[in-house]
Amino acid sequence: MSEGLLFKKAGKEDLPRISEFRKGFFEVHEAGRSCEPEYYEWKCYRNVFGEGGVWLAEEGNSVVGVKSLTPKPMKVLGAMVNAAETGDNFVHPDYRRHGIFSRLFRAHLDGVDPQWSLIYTLPSKIPLQAYERKLDCPQIPVSLCSMVKPVRSKQLLKRKLRFSFVAAIVSPLVDIASRAMFRIGTRGMARSTVDVRPEEGFPDDVDALWEEASVNYDVILVRSKKYLEWRYIANPDAYTILIARSKSGATSGYMVTKVHASNDLTWGYICDFLTLESDPNVFRKLLAAAVESFYQKGCAVVLAYVVRGSFYYRTLLRAGFLPRARHPIVCYRNELGKLVLKGGHKWHFTMADSDHI
Ligand SMILES: CC(C)(COP(=O)(O)OP(=O)(O)OC[C@H]1O[C@@H](n2cnc3c(N)ncnc32)[C@H](O)[C@@H]1OP(=O)(O)O)[C@@H](O)C(=O)NCCC(=O)NCCS
Repeated sequence: MSEGLLFKKAGKEDLPRISEFRKGFFEVHEAGRSCEPEYYEWKCYRNVFGEGGVWLAEEGNSVVGVKSLTPKPMKVLGAMVNAAETGDNFVHPDYRRHGIFSRLFRAHLDGVDPQWSLIYTLPSKIPLQAYERKLDCPQIPVSLCSMVKPVRSKQLLKRKLRFSFVAAIVSPLVDIASRAMFRIGTRGMARSTVDVRPEEGFPDDVDALWEEASVNYDVILVRSKKYLEWRYIANPDAYTILIARSKSGATSGYMVTKVHASNDLTWGYICDFLTLESDPNVFRKLLAAAVESFYQKGCAVVLAYVVRGSFYYRTLLRAGFLPRARHPIVCYRNELGKLVLKGGHKWHFTMADSDHI
C-alpha cells in the first residue's frame, strides 16, 4: 500500500465519487436503498439533527475507503441524547487489512461529542470483528432479530426445489396455509374500531403518540414528527406510510413499509412501527394492512426487524412470522456507551433505525 493516502471528511463535491465507489460493492437495485449522491447528501448533510458526514481515504484522485456518520436523536433512560449511526464501511479490495477502516472510524469520531454521543451500528460479520477487537465497540446486550413470513412462496420454493413445476404445484397450498395462520394470529381485529390507511405524511398528533408510547422503553430512537419527516419524507427513497387512527380520529400507531426487489426475490420490508401496547389490535391491523399490500404487490417474503421477546415480536410470531437471524448492535465504549452496554434495558428497535433500508 502506498504511503500517499489522504484521510479527510468529504465535502458535498466528493459525493459523486463516493457514490460511484459505493456502487462497486453490492448490486444496486432501483427499488433498494439508494447509493446516489443525493442519498448521502440527505443522510449526512441535510440531516435535521446535525451534520454528520462521510469520511474518505483517497490516493491521488481515487477513493479507496469510506465511512459515514449519521446523527439520530435517541432517548436513553429518560434523557434525550445525541446518537449517531456509523456505517457505509467500504475499503477497496487492494487496500484491505492495512487499517484504513480503523483509521476512518477514529477520524469520524471528531464529528461527535466523544463522551456523550451514542455511536452505534449493526455490523455485518467482518466489520463486527473489527469493531469488537480493534475499535472498542462491544456488542450491546439486546437481542435484535429479523423475522420473515412467506406470502407468495413460488419464488422462494423455486430457489429451493430442483424442479420448478413442483414449486408451481406446492406454492398455492403453502400460501393458503400462510394466510390462514396469519388470520388466526391476528384475530380479534374484527371487533376493533381502529382505522388504518396509507397517508402521504405524518399527522401532527404523532408527537403525542411518541410521548405516550416512548415511556415504555429505556432505549428508543426519538420518533417525533420532525424525525419521521426527515427519515421518510425528505429521504430521496420512497416509503409507504400507514397511519392507524382510533374512533376519535387520534393517531394510535404508524407503520412504514417498502418493497425491495433483490436478485430473483421481491421482499416486503416492514421498516418501522410504533403503536400503543395498551391496544394490541392497532399493531395487528397495521400488520394486516401491510401484509395484504405486499401480497397484492407480488412480494414473496415479508421481513421485519424486532427486539426478541417484545410485544411486537410476540405478535409477529403469532401471525406466522419466523425468526431468521440475529443482528448484533455494537456501540462505542464512551461514557454513554458504558451505560447502555450494562444491559437489562427495554429497547424498541426496527429496521429503519439502521441504514439497512
Ligand atoms: C470490512 C472492511 C471495510 C474492513 O476494512 P479494512 O480497512 O480492511 O479493515 P482494517 O484493516 O481496519 O481491519 C481492522 C480489523 O478488522 C478485522 N478484519 C478486517 N478484515 C477482516 C477479514 N477479512 N477477516 C477477518 N478479520 C478482518 C481484523 O481484526 C483487523 O485487524 P488486523 O488486520 O490487525 O487483524 C473491508 O473488508 C470491506 O470493504 N469489505 C467489503 C465491504 C463490506 O462488506 N462492508 C460491510 C458492509 S457495510
